[in-house]
Amino acid sequence: MKMNISMKMTAIAAAAWFLLLAGASAFAAAAAENYRFYCSQCHGLGGKGDGPNATKNMPVSPRDHTSKYEMEKLTDEDIINVIRDGGAATSKSTLMPPFGRTLTASEITAMKDYLRRLCKCKAQS
Ligand code: HEC
Repeated sequence: MKMNISMKMTAIAAAAWFLLLAGASAFAAAAAENYRFYCSQCHGLGGKGDGPNATKNMPVSPRDHTSKYEMEKLTDEDIINVIRDGGAATSKSTLMPPFGRTLTASEITAMKDYLRRLCKCKAQS
């Protein structure tokens, strides 16, 4: 088949779109994977704050990331800061470790997006 210029442009746009979508979902998959690896011990596999390391003896329970009520109190910045710098740096419990040396800035942003999907919420303005 002979392609005219506009067909070529469409094909290129479609290919670019596909790569964009593939890239975005790769990030989402990586965030879910990172969550399972780094966060689920405390926050639970489903994010309900009920991981195996979360016991009644913990003075503060890990945040329930599926709670719209709790999570909409946090801005996107708050979420990014606490993941990067840990509980102590954000005047929260030191039981929440910092991940700034474990995850890259873009992985932390992808993690914030993942948490927003868990709570199905945005920051309350
Ligand atoms: C060792 C246990 C532990 C691990 C591992 C852990 N957390 Fe936490 N996290 C906590 C605790 C405890 C709190 C509650 C802190 C508070 O309310 O003072 C918390 C709170 C949070 C909050 C809410 C902070 C706020 O201001 O309300 C977010 C967001 C969060 N964690 C994200 C994560 C993410 C993302 C990971 C994995 C990259 C993770 N946590 C790993 C224990 C943990």
